[in-house]
Amino acid sequence: MKKIIYYFSGTGNSLYTAGKIAEAIGGAEIVSVRCSAETVSAEDADIIGFVCPVYEWDIPGAFKEFIGKITINPNAYIFMVTTYIAVLGKSFETVAEILEEKGADLHYGRAIRCVASQCIAYPPFPPERIMIPYMEKQIEKAGREISTKTQRDYPRMSSLMRRRYHKVMGPYMKIEKEYDKGFYTDDRCKGCGVCEKVCPTQNIIMQNNRPTWNHQCHGCNACVAYCPTKAIQFKTPQAYKELDTIICKMLRLPEGRKRYHHPLIKAGDLMVHRKEIVPNDNKAHTG
Ligand SMILES: Cc1cc2nc3c(=O)[nH]c(=O)nc-3n(C[C@H](O)[C@H](O)[C@H](O)COP(=O)(O)O)c2cc1C
Repeated sequence: MKKIIYYFSGTGNSLYTAGKIAEAIGGAEIVSVRCSAETVSAEDADIIGFVCPVYEWDIPGAFKEFIGKITINPNAYIFMVTTYIAVLGKSFETVAEILEEKGADLHYGRAIRCVASQCIAYPPFPPERIMIPYMEKQIEKAGREISTKTQRDYPRMSSLMRRRYHKVMGPYMKIEKEYDKGFYTDDRCKGCGVCEKVCPTQNIIMQNNRPTWNHQCHGCNACVAYCPTKAIQFKTPQAYKELDTIICKMLRLPEGRKRYHHPLIKAGDLMVHRKEIVPNDNKAHTG
């Protein structure tokens, strides 16, 4: 039985989730959005999964494009798991619509609450010591349900949120892909190229041993969070400064920035584009 899980991840929460679900369903291939969509078809798969973060009340644009391009088996059991902090918006509906165009249905949807990854805007919250064990419990539940091919209706955006979507999200959508205008490196940059290799949108190109950002950014923070020398700095975009102030005040978060990535996902894990997860056997075949 062929099982395949496609994922997008900036700071590792979604990659960690994809890997654990793959284990729970008895093994699966996990495939990064960094692969060329045309080469990773699922037309002969029996179980197909999509795992990604919620960005701006939706799924990351690059993942949307990727899902649109892959060929799938419309008769497969199809699930979607998002990682998020508070607002799911239309993330599940987006994927359900793309699947509908392919003649397929979304059979299962669940969202996993995680640590906020948006460190260019506000400090990571809630605290890792609380969220990492809680995340684990939620993933275990999702894994159990998916392994028995449970049908679960996916969460939808409320009509109130739908009415507010453009007003609230408009400022961020306008600067989407351009968060990277505020990124720069300081003299700690060694030109190692880790940032280029972990970027899920392949937005970074090394030039003269320094990263250059090419405005196809989703603000995922992978480059910032995984830089081994913390050499990547950022100026928070204006639209985010306002969000920053509101969230910090509301949640009484400190003003200072802290880099976050999932503690068990290392830069090297994000660099592997395809990986066969084999449960109860630590042998993983990469390619
Ligand atoms: C650019 C950006 C936008 C985000 N937008 C939302 C959002 O609309 N709703 C929400 O609940 N979380 C939002 N988050 C938080 C992430 O969904 C969450 O931290 C997720 O687990 C990150 O996954 P990753 O570690 O796999 O990249 C956002 C994070 C980023 C970086």
